[in-house]
Amino acid sequence: MNDLQTAPRPAVLARQSFIEMSARERAAALLDPEGQREVLGPFDGLQSPWLPRQGIVPQSDDGVVVLRGRLGGRDAVVAALEGRFQGGSIGEVCGAKIAAALELALRDCEAGRPVLPVLLLETGGVRLQEANLGLAVIAEIQSAVVALRRHVPVVAAIAGLVGCFGGMSLVAGLCSHIVITRQARLGMNGPEVIEQEAGVEELDAADRQLVWSLIGGEQRVATGLADALVDDDAAQVREQVLGFALGAPSEARSAQVSIWRARIDALAANEDLSPKALREAWETPRRAQGDKP
Ligand code: COA
Repeated sequence: MNDLQTAPRPAVLARQSFIEMSARERAAALLDPEGQREVLGPFDGLQSPWLPRQGIVPQSDDGVVVLRGRLGGRDAVVAALEGRFQGGSIGEVCGAKIAAALELALRDCEAGRPVLPVLLLETGGVRLQEANLGLAVIAEIQSAVVALRRHVPVVAAIAGLVGCFGGMSLVAGLCSHIVITRQARLGMNGPEVIEQEAGVEELDAADRQLVWSLIGGEQRVATGLADALVDDDAAQVREQVLGFALGAPSEARSAQVSIWRARIDALAANEDLSPKALREAWETPRRAQGDKP
């Protein structure tokens, strides 16, 4: 054997990239290996009736994979969005699949059979080609998340590269915990949308360093809008999701109104904040509220 064959493998090569996985692979990597079952899979042929009418080839799972199985030995359901199909956008069918999966988990929770829900969000938000139907179904997903989190932690993971935008960023905000990678972005409007609507002087969407410093995973964790920063490593994503899903329930971020009000008040005096200044401006109210740094 030569030196190269015996040299220890760098940690980065030992990792299995989560970002490079398809939605189906991500969901499977997250759950315990035994007893996984796909609900409404591609062979059920439940696809968007609206895309073909607009000259777009539909996909037989409409870009979402729902897997039932177990997480750390507990009953669980994972809904994973496929960022490579229409930017992971939410149309009528894929949105209804997610909402129904969460509502069934809620029914089980209410009957005393807890099911741990996990959302793998990789989405440009409402599917522009399905407009109001997408909006309506996102509202159903939001209601289900709020109802479920009274019973079990609802965990979202945002891996990248699409990120999580639009109405689905509100879904993420309602979840009990958000796990995010450095590569992911989380925000209401996409950078291109902001540039298009407000002009390049407001935001240059081509300036990737600026975009990630504003809405990237590291900044979102530093400012308390996401809970855990993980590497692009399937094992690390699973471990962190498992930690939150099996952990004690905590007050949801969207219920912490006084903390967020104090942070926004602290911003009022700072008109033109850099990403670094934003982190510093929020430190004072965070400490005063006893929040973790
Ligand atoms: N509806 C339909 N298609 C969408 C979409 C949406 N909401 N978001 C993204 N896509 C599509 C894009 O049109 C593109 O399709 P194409 O490959 O056929 O051209 C594909 O997904 C990838 O998007 P792209 O913009 O090329 O990738 P990116 O990594 O540069 O940017 C986003 C990804 C999500 C940041 C960007 O697409 C974006 O800003 N989308 C809008 C986000 C938003 O503001 N949503 C609010 C909707 S209410």
